[in-house]
Amino acid sequence: MSKIHAAITAVNAYVPDYILTNQELETMVDTNDEWITTRTGIKERHILKGEGLGTSDMAVPAVNGLLKKRGIGADEIDLIIFCTTTPDRVFPATANILADKIGAKNAWGYDLQAACSGFLFGLATGSQFIESGKHKKVLVVGGDKMSSITNYEDRATCIIFGDGCGAVLLEPNDEGNGIMDSILKSDGSGVQYLHQKAGGSMRPASHETVDAREHYAYQEGQAVFKFAVTNMADVAAEIMERNHLSSDDVAWLVPHQANKRIIDATANRTGLSADKVIINIERYGNTTNATIPLCLWEWENKFKKGDVLILAAFGGGFTWGSVYLRWAY
Ligand code: UT7
Repeated sequence: MSKIHAAITAVNAYVPDYILTNQELETMVDTNDEWITTRTGIKERHILKGEGLGTSDMAVPAVNGLLKKRGIGADEIDLIIFCTTTPDRVFPATANILADKIGAKNAWGYDLQAACSGFLFGLATGSQFIESGKHKKVLVVGGDKMSSITNYEDRATCIIFGDGCGAVLLEPNDEGNGIMDSILKSDGSGVQYLHQKAGGSMRPASHETVDAREHYAYQEGQAVFKFAVTNMADVAAEIMERNHLSSDDVAWLVPHQANKRIIDATANRTGLSADKVIINIERYGNTTNATIPLCLWEWENKFKKGDVLILAAFGGGFTWGSVYLRWAY
């Protein structure tokens, strides 16, 4: 019998209805559509509005739709890995909250924090439970309500982020499809360039931290850009080289959607033509953990069984990585 791989057997996503356009941002900060479009590729992003709604409220419709597509009940799920940088609460884990909301009574779960690389870290760790034979159905969710940590007075960051959530189901595959390899990396010295200053144990919330607007994502954009543009491209090229994959062998590049210029650099480095590169940043912006599942969801109907996909991401931490998978359906 051939080796068991963890294959994606269903994908679904949810984005909130409200659309924040570049034109509306022009009324909020000193910016313009031309600057945002040429520097980032973003035209609009979805925002979760409504009192008391958190990241799990986007995960519920995403996962319920996924279960319906796959024709299984929530009670069949063994494990939920919730990749997020904006959990509903500091504790308990949003995975637990989601399990309760969808009725996944037989699942255990945990949250995974690796900023924009989180979904790839989640795929790689979730696949281990399938390959080992420990579990049969692992749900990997990537979702963020970035609007909850975005400073809408800072034009350098508020134009980038959006809200959304995507999910995939991992199941065993013995046909040679599924997750074949992953390369994951982190470098904690990058913390200075991209972080949230307050709200953690080092600097708990106080009147002072709120007044100083320290509960938002802080980013030194140019520095992050330099690391992202080389590392994301290099790691995608590395996983192709070590698996002896040429650009002809790869059907799709699925890059984290942080900046169109970073995506283009990754495509160039891997030698992939534009028609193989999945880009939807113009409609969603940077949804952090949700960018890659949103791409898989939107392109699902174009994928063919056996297609080689290269996923690549870079994010705060720094964290970055690449996953090589063969589409299973
Ligand atoms: O998701 C994972 C990690 N994050 C990333 O990968 C993001 C990486 N970084 C970026 O994508 C880019 O650095 C940004 C999109 C955030 C910024 O683009 P940039 O080309 O690096 O701009 P910059 O920060 O170097 O700023 C250039 C100029 C500055 O003006 P001066 O000093 O040259 O006069 C900024 O003040 O553009 C100005 N600027 C803006 N102008 C209009 C910054 N933000 C805006 C804005 N509208 N929204």
